[in-house]
Amino acid sequence: MTYTPEKQQKMPVNPIFNPRGDDTIENRTMWFGNTTNLMQLNDVRYSWAVGLYKQMRENFWIPEKLDITQDVTDYWNLTPEERYAFDGILSYLTFLDSIQTYNIPYLKNPITAPEVTLCMTEQASQEGLHNQSYQWMIETIIPAEKRSSVYDFWRTDKILLERCEFIASLYQKYVDNPTHENYFIALVADYLLEGLYFYNGFIFFYNLASRMLMPGSADIFKMINRDELSHVRLFQRLVPEAMSTFTHSVEQIYEMFDNAVRYECKWTNHIVGNQILGITEASTEQYTKYLANIRLRAIGLEPLYKEDKFTKSPYTHLEKFADTKADGNTKANFFESGVTSYVMSSGLGGWDEI
Ligand SMILES: [Fe+2]
Ligand SMILES: [Fe+2]
Repeated sequence: MTYTPEKQQKMPVNPIFNPRGDDTIENRTMWFGNTTNLMQLNDVRYSWAVGLYKQMRENFWIPEKLDITQDVTDYWNLTPEERYAFDGILSYLTFLDSIQTYNIPYLKNPITAPEVTLCMTEQASQEGLHNQSYQWMIETIIPAEKRSSVYDFWRTDKILLERCEFIASLYQKYVDNPTHENYFIALVADYLLEGLYFYNGFIFFYNLASRMLMPGSADIFKMINRDELSHVRLFQRLVPEAMSTFTHSVEQIYEMFDNAVRYECKWTNHIVGNQILGITEASTEQYTKYLANIRLRAIGLEPLYKEDKFTKSPYTHLEKFADTKADGNTKANFFESGVTSYVMSSGLGGWDEI
């Protein structure tokens, strides 16, 4: 028998039910455990996951309950460049949430801690909801004769298609060849998607809202933003745990981050460019590199972009548009993903541990 290096070994598939499994806390691990696959949540090893799950459930929202009627007329008060960006960003975000909905189960299947499985199940449900909210926006705001061009934007826009193919390829690699190495890469790719790829899009909508345009769309994005930050929190737990479990190279993580930043800036410059008041190629670069730095720090790695300007967000003035707190006193710094002011219930025991 030939020896297979650990990185090339296949990820195990959990049996549906394993009566000989061992769910004791001492023997429970995130991966490669011997779970029964029963969701007995009375005893958990990863208590942060229980708090996070409750917080995700507290975030529940319904797109149709948010009023977007003003946006229907506002759409025609946007400049042609703003309308183009609006359509393109909606198409891009639809892509991101679509592949998340399909990919999360692949990442979830080898996990042997039921409390973490629970979070990922909720995450997949939220990604599905986000897709439905884009459909709600497109059907309500965009006139009927133009809708198919928005849905098909990714087919006709070469830069968007290239971007989508790049993002999907990192997931596809694991689906085609489910090795330890490809699992680790898919996990980091997922963290990049959750932590980096949405935010220039969100900024575009908050920027419009700051000029009293498209307030309903901004409200929907606040909700999506809040959900995405709970997914960022989840992956800020999973990635460091994976770093201590899987053979990997830190250089490869940095390379993935650098590539992600490059693609994100290229796409944002293409769809937003310098045509929108308050957003420039320079602010996009600063913001994207700033985000990459804080996401790296959150998984225990040194920032990649050392210049002083990449330690600050250029969009702090837009933070209030992402804040759902009614009284406005406890401003949520969503850029740092410390969104405790969004918590609505008192039943969130585990949240502080996150
Ligand atoms: Fe999402
Ligand atoms: Fe997400």
